Amino acid sequence: MLANVQPEVAGVGLGYRMHLHDQILSARQSIDFLEAISDQFIYATPDRIERLQAALSVYPIVPHSLSMSVGTAEEVDAEYLRRNANFVQSVNAPWYSDHLCMTRVDELDLGSLTPLWFTDELVEIVIRNVNRIKETVPGRPFLLENITYYVSMPRSTMTESEFVTKVIEGADCGLLLDVNNVYVNAQNQGYDPYEFLKRIPLDRVIQAHIAGYEHGEKVLVDTHSSPVSHEVWDLLEFVCRNSPLRAVSLERDSNFPEFSEMIEELNHARKVLQRCGRYP
Ligand SMILES: [Fe+2]
Repeated sequence: MLANVQPEVAGVGLGYRMHLHDQILSARQSIDFLEAISDQFIYATPDRIERLQAALSVYPIVPHSLSMSVGTAEEVDAEYLRRNANFVQSVNAPWYSDHLCMTRVDELDLGSLTPLWFTDELVEIVIRNVNRIKETVPGRPFLLENITYYVSMPRSTMTESEFVTKVIEGADCGLLLDVNNVYVNAQNQGYDPYEFLKRIPLDRVIQAHIAGYEHGEKVLVDTHSSPVSHEVWDLLEFVCRNSPLRAVSLERDSNFPEFSEMIEELNHARKVLQRCGRYP
């Protein structure tokens, strides 16, 4: 089903951020892989490519893209897919991923990960797009990531867990489970995150994201700007015990702490994987 996952990529990873380049390169003993945002490299200038190649010589790279827009009714941008496929192959990625959302309507770039209505029509659109994406990189698993949303989606005819399940199983793809997103959505939408996890195909989880949220006026906001909360650590452990999870990566995008604090969080994630017998 999800064949050809290269066994050498497993453990704990960090989202590659250009300004952390030197620190990342000197922390090989604490980081098992890097997750690179594809969009920053597939149209990149030579200096960026050079930096990535330096990282590549030290770390396995897992590409994570932002702009496939699997929920857009029109076909996925063929040129973007072609460049993404080249990137995936050039870094010899074990798998690659994008988000279960839309970022484009017709020619309009929405500029953010926009949630989808939980309907059968959207399930069909996403499955069609994922099948097209999978054709561009044969033999390497494609993963979709669950996103956060801050209003209850109008027109929906099913729950979020039903929608995620129908899409992931219908498209026969893997799940990149953002555990922080599960917690943030559960708090904001008023459901039990553990019940949500029991209802989605955890048997398809290959990678997990961890990150920190912030308290907005009325909701929790997925900002990637604070430490991972203890609730998210507990959820990660549950996922780890109930899925074939093999890789956990930390996402941090603002309010950066000392680099050593991020390494501490990776050490914490490593211990979770070890307790579940999932650390190589
Ligand atoms: Fe994420």
